[in-house]
Amino acid sequence: MSDERGALRTEGLTKAFGGVVALDGASVAFQHGRVNALIGPNGSGKTTFFNCVTGMIRADSGRTTYRGRDITRAAPHAVAHAGIGRTFQLCRVFPRMSALDNVLAAVRPSGLLGQLRGARGRAEVDRARGWLTRLGIEHLADVEARNMSWGQQKLLELAGVLMSEPETVLLDEPAGGVNPALLDRIGTLVRDLNAEGRTFVIVEHNMDLVMSISDHIVVFDRGRPIAEGPPSVIRSDERVLGAYLGV
Ligand SMILES: Nc1ncnc2c1ncn2[C@@H]1O[C@H](COP(=O)(O)OP(=O)(O)O)[C@@H](O)[C@H]1O
Ligand SMILES: [Mg+2]
Repeated sequence: MSDERGALRTEGLTKAFGGVVALDGASVAFQHGRVNALIGPNGSGKTTFFNCVTGMIRADSGRTTYRGRDITRAAPHAVAHAGIGRTFQLCRVFPRMSALDNVLAAVRPSGLLGQLRGARGRAEVDRARGWLTRLGIEHLADVEARNMSWGQQKLLELAGVLMSEPETVLLDEPAGGVNPALLDRIGTLVRDLNAEGRTFVIVEHNMDLVMSISDHIVVFDRGRPIAEGPPSVIRSDERVLGAYLGV
């Protein structure tokens, strides 16, 4: 029973865009405490799954629970408050803000209230610098995000997500377009953060990365899971090879 509760779980999640069925009754369970991966061909519904789970879009039908709590109709801020953070496939940072301000913006309301809070937010600034250090980009603290490389911007976005201390982190293609050195750093960081108690669900196309950091892999094809298991099983699963290679 504790397994049932300690999970991000969907039942029959369905979402269509016009005639395109992006999610087709997807029932998935991601256990707490694991590095989970969600893989599948382009267009198989992975990002839509994240969007539905995080309340960015409303599923047509189906149900989502997190740690036993129904979050099917929860708004994005409520999902975040429940403990789920996420990054975006196309990376969301404020291009004209410094790296440090980007991380702070993740937890600080914008406008006057934010400035008032900011004036006495010394501990917050230290914490933000701590995350930049952890991600290896502290030397870029005062650099505007638009002047950082794509890979650095992805690390910055992740720092912002971690700033709100989510217990579960959804990463949408963290290694996409990132150079090999940063890729290693992302892999190590995910394993370290997981060892500290954080749960991950990672959508990623880099199979070396997925196979090396995941405890459990769910494979999507056409909007629903077709296989799941540890890397050793997924690597040799014929349905997985079929979905990717069209065999
Ligand atoms: N906002 C949208 N409007 C119309 N079609 C969409 C939208 N989002 C996703 N789709 C379609 O839904 C399907 C699944 O997309 P997506 O979830 O982005 O797949 P993945 O992340 O696995 O590549 C694709 O056919 C895509 O074109
Ligand atoms: Mg996607």
